[in-house]
Amino acid sequence: EKGGYAHFTIKEIYEQPKALKDTMTGRIVPGKKVKLDDIHITKEMLEDYSRIYIIACGTAYNAGLIGKVAIENLARIPVEVDVASEFRYRNPIIDAKTLVIVISQSGETADTLAVSREAQKFGARVIAITNVVGSSIAREADDVFYTWAGPEIGVASTKAYLTMLVAIYSIGIYFAELLGTQQESYLENLKKELLTLPEKVASIIADTTRIEHFADKIHTEKDVFFLGRGLDYQIAVEASLKLKELSYIHSEAYPGGELKHGSIALIEDDITVIASLTQRDLLEKMQSNIKEVVSRGAKVMAITFEDNHDVEHFSDEVIIIPNTMDLIAPILAVVPLQLLAYYVALYKGLDVDKPRNLAKSVTVE
Ligand code: M6R
Repeated sequence: EKGGYAHFTIKEIYEQPKALKDTMTGRIVPGKKVKLDDIHITKEMLEDYSRIYIIACGTAYNAGLIGKVAIENLARIPVEVDVASEFRYRNPIIDAKTLVIVISQSGETADTLAVSREAQKFGARVIAITNVVGSSIAREADDVFYTWAGPEIGVASTKAYLTMLVAIYSIGIYFAELLGTQQESYLENLKKELLTLPEKVASIIADTTRIEHFADKIHTEKDVFFLGRGLDYQIAVEASLKLKELSYIHSEAYPGGELKHGSIALIEDDITVIASLTQRDLLEKMQSNIKEVVSRGAKVMAITFEDNHDVEHFSDEVIIIPNTMDLIAPILAVVPLQLLAYYVALYKGLDVDKPRNLAKSVTVE
């Protein structure tokens, strides 16, 4: 059932082009408005929502972090993101003017389900983004977006995460089209570009030599730092979680601009820093952050677009990804980092599909 792959995790990473395509099919069509069959929100309803909460756990929460940026940018509605187990207990402000988006691959995560129920009790509408048809979260929500990633067996979420991002962009564009918050031509470009991503992801996974080489180099490390600005920070957060759970290496994700506020004290000779540079407006700032860590002895692996040639001058390794629009770059930028976490675990001889202490679905609180 692993179809010739050594592990489910790598099989699922390789299934990402198909998962992306399946999730977009029929929903994102050039020249047409985004069509979301199981979401029944009208322009009038949307105009009435004063805020959106995105609530989830783990990797689904990390997808939510990108959801905040994407939906705020596209639809200009304030979005707050929180982990379900925190949100539940902090007496949040929820009423009929609140729209809640819960994200859960399994659709069975206890804390996320509890938030969905609680929110409905207070009169909020709930949209579920989930991968499992008929799951509790799907059944109880008012609206559903199914990510057609197919069954995800590996404990580390990979293809489900990528399709959650597609869900978020689709909902963001759908809202923008209802509200008229963006130029049609911009949304049209975004849709066309989204449709090119399956092929671009396929080109990233077609050759993993550089990533394997880097994984070999760092697999004995104790600490690794991930850096990014803007959406690259959200990618750093997900990459750090992936590396932790698959390879048991301690890692932290920092926004580049926060380094000076404390964490740069941890940068010493030979420490590994993995930097993502896909946000064009922030490139210069991010590059100066990298120079700061390099001057303190850090070894840097950078991920950047093919048309950014500056990074190679001060990085030890550069992983190139195809060009795309900044807003949707996370779909590409995370893939080499998923592969990195996988290969590091492999070099360490760990149980990749079932990391210690973890369950695929967390149905207890
Ligand atoms: O099924 P869910 O998406 O609700 O699961 C949420 C988290 O438990 C899950 O994403 C977890 O963090 C993964 N092991 C991450 O790879």
